[in-house]
Amino acid sequence: MTRRSIGIIVNGVTGRMGYRQHLVRSLLAIRESGGVALADGTTIWPEPVLVGRNETKLRELAERHGLTEWTTDLTSALARDDVEIYFDAQVTQQREKAIRQAIEAGKHIYTEKPLAEDTAAALDLARAADAAGVRTGVVQDKLFLPGLRKLKRLIDGGFFGRILSVRGEFGYWVFEGDWQPAQRPSWNYRAEDGGGIVVDMFPHWHYVLEELFGRVTAVSCVTATHVPERVDEAGQPYAATADDAAYATFELDGGMIAQINSSWAVRVYRDELVEFQVDGTEGSAVAGLRNCRVQHRAVTPKPVWNPDLPATEDFRDQWAEVPDNEEFDNGFKVQWEAYLRHVVADEPFRWDFLAGARGVQLAELGLRSAREGGRIEVPELRS
Ligand SMILES: NC(=O)c1ccc[n+]([C@@H]2O[C@H](COP(=O)([O-])OP(=O)(O)OC[C@H]3O[C@@H](n4cnc5c(N)ncnc54)[C@H](O)[C@@H]3O)[C@@H](O)[C@H]2O)c1
Repeated sequence: MTRRSIGIIVNGVTGRMGYRQHLVRSLLAIRESGGVALADGTTIWPEPVLVGRNETKLRELAERHGLTEWTTDLTSALARDDVEIYFDAQVTQQREKAIRQAIEAGKHIYTEKPLAEDTAAALDLARAADAAGVRTGVVQDKLFLPGLRKLKRLIDGGFFGRILSVRGEFGYWVFEGDWQPAQRPSWNYRAEDGGGIVVDMFPHWHYVLEELFGRVTAVSCVTATHVPERVDEAGQPYAATADDAAYATFELDGGMIAQINSSWAVRVYRDELVEFQVDGTEGSAVAGLRNCRVQHRAVTPKPVWNPDLPATEDFRDQWAEVPDNEEFDNGFKVQWEAYLRHVVADEPFRWDFLAGARGVQLAELGLRSAREGGRIEVPELRS
C-alpha cells in the first residue's frame, strides 16, 4: 500500500467551520480512518498546514492535535512545494484576495461558500482558476446530509411522480448577545463585513434546488432585519445592518415552485433546524438534516375543512420514516474525500468554482429582488 501525502493549507482554521467541520471532522477524521483509499491501493494522506492571524491560537490548536505545521504567513505557506491544496474557511470578505494568491501560486483550491461577495468576482475567480489549470471545489455540504441523501434517493426512484413544489423552512433564534451570548459570530449581522442571511444561505439553497429538482430560473425575495441591534463578542452593542431573515420564492425548470424561509429570528417548532417538504402527484416527503418521512398517495387522508370541529386525526402520524439503508458519514468529510480523489486520481467532481459562482449569483439576485421589490430572472452563468 502506497501512502500519497498531500499538503493542505487550512486558512481560517481557528473559526467555527475551519476548526470543527474541516480540520477535526474532515481532515483529521480522514487520517483516523486510515486516509482516502484509491482503487489502485494508494491512500491519500492529508497533511494540514494551519494558517491564521493569531499565533497563540494556532500553536495551541496544532499542539492539541499533534500537528507541527502552522504559520501566520500565508505567502510562505503558499510557496511550499509540498503544499498542493489551498483551503479557505476565513470570513467571506477575506476569501477572494487569498484565493487569487493561491491561484497565482498554482495551488488547487477548495473553499467554504460563498466563493466571493459578488457574481462578477466569483466568475472571475472561476475563469482565473481555469486558465491556471488548477482544480477547484466549493463546499456544498448539505447535499451529503442523510436527510437530503434520502430525499435524492426518493427522487431517483420515482417516488414523487411529477414534483409540484418544495417548501423549505430554515432557522432558529440567534441570541442578541445581551443577556445570553450569541451563538453565531457578529460579522454575520453586519452587511459591511460580508454578513446577512441571504449571502449566507442562498448559496446552499441554490445547490440543493439545482441538484435535486432543477435549474432556478427566477427569484422573488423579501428580506428583513428583525433585530436591529445586537451585542458583539466583546460585549459592545452594534447596529445589525444585514438581513437576518429572507422570505423567498424560487421558480424552477419544469414549472416547480420552491418557497424557502430563512431566519435567525424564529423559534423552532419543527423536528430539525431545516426541513424541506416536497409535494408530488404520487407522494410527498419531508426531509430534514437527518430524517426523511413520506406519505404516498395511496395512504393520503381526505381531510374536510370544518373549523367548527377539533382536528379528528393526527396528521404527523400518517407519515412513514424512510430507512437509512446505508451508513452516512459526516457530509463535510464525504465531500473532502471526493475533492481529494479529484485532485489526486482525476475522479470527476462537479462542485467547482463555476457551481459556487451560481450560488453567489442567486444570493446577489435575491438581494436585488428584495431591494427593487420584484421578480428577477436568473440568467444561466457560463464559464
Ligand atoms: N458550509 C456551511 O454550512 C457554513 C456554515 C457557516 C459558515 N460557513 C462559511 O464559513 C466561513 C467562516 O464562517 P465561520 O462561521 O466559521 O466564521 P468565524 O468567524 O467563526 O471564523 C472566521 C475565520 O476567519 C478568520 N479571519 C481572517 N481574517 C479575518 C478578519 N479580517 N476578520 C475576522 N476574521 C477573520 C478568523 O480568524 C476565523 O478563523 C464563512 O465564509 C461562512 O460563509 C459555511
